Amino acid sequence: MFLFNYSNEKVTLLFNQLNNNNKVRTNMTDSLSQHRHISFTAHYTGYIWYQMGISHPAFATSKGKFLAKLLHPLESWAERHVGGSMRTTLKQRHQMIDEHLCQLIEQHPQLQVLEIACGLSPRSWNFRQKFPEINYRELDLPDMAKIKTQALQQIDQYAPEVLTADIFSEELDCIFQMFDRNQPLVVISEGLINYFDQQMLGILMQGITENVQYFPAVHYLSDIYPEPVKNKLANFIWSSSRLLKFMSRSAFTFHFKSPQELQHFFQDAGFDQVEVQQPQRYFAEPRQQNPTHEQDEHLGDLVWMVHAVKKNSV
Ligand SMILES: C[S@@+](CC[C@H](N)C(=O)[O-])C[C@H]1O[C@@H](n2cnc3c(N)ncnc32)[C@H](O)[C@@H]1O
Repeated sequence: MFLFNYSNEKVTLLFNQLNNNNKVRTNMTDSLSQHRHISFTAHYTGYIWYQMGISHPAFATSKGKFLAKLLHPLESWAERHVGGSMRTTLKQRHQMIDEHLCQLIEQHPQLQVLEIACGLSPRSWNFRQKFPEINYRELDLPDMAKIKTQALQQIDQYAPEVLTADIFSEELDCIFQMFDRNQPLVVISEGLINYFDQQMLGILMQGITENVQYFPAVHYLSDIYPEPVKNKLANFIWSSSRLLKFMSRSAFTFHFKSPQELQHFFQDAGFDQVEVQQPQRYFAEPRQQNPTHEQDEHLGDLVWMVHAVKKNSV
């Protein structure tokens, strides 16, 4: 199950050590992940990024091309009538995460990166070109990890293998042990967390905050689709989300109606600081400052970005 450089004995030892202290997550090494049906969506995203000119042809699959063709009429309709679509949010979320990651690397040159559920994102490839010394590891379920490793190694023979783990299993704990605990770490997820209900999201966030207590600091960067309360076509967005939920056989949902709800949730999961970026403000010219947490409100964007920080006194 594991594709990284650890020996099987060491992984078994790590599992044994961890078996007793995590009752919520399960050991997934013997079975297929129940979340594997989500993976097809990564082909779509990967292809759209390629079409938009922000990715490499190696990450554009024939499955992605098929899905892009199939969904084009729906996406175009949404752009005309809703004011945005899934594909317009793909660019916004990718850019916001990229820019935050760049700033963090400038502030902390030794920053290590773990991108979970990486799919066919070009980010690791882009950042390795910009920052050749960076320790940037990606992770996904086995089938996607294999496809992504092959794609990466076609264009960069030195790209490391994509790690294999189910983030809801104890395998995640072992992944954190591969990083240098003396240096800060950033965990990235993109296009992922809406596929899980709030309880599972809490389990995932706790899995991260508990695993990083020995690092000086951990940053978490992710996009998140808020409940479409401000949008005239909220019913259409809800219906589309139900279709996605059905197709991905997941618990796809919107968790939060306001930035405050999101902030409280992440604080409860163990983060100290939580910042929410909304595209209307983020991409305004000139960029608008975020108001205080209490004064912030849902501006109506389809996607937001979260930057949560946990600082540890180690
Ligand atoms: C919706 S895609 C997002 C991929 C990519 N980050 C993007 O933005 O296109 C979700 C990815 O999460 C992976 N995934 C889903 N559940 C997972 C799990 N439990 N553990 C690890 N990866 C998972 C899927 O294989 C898929 O590649």
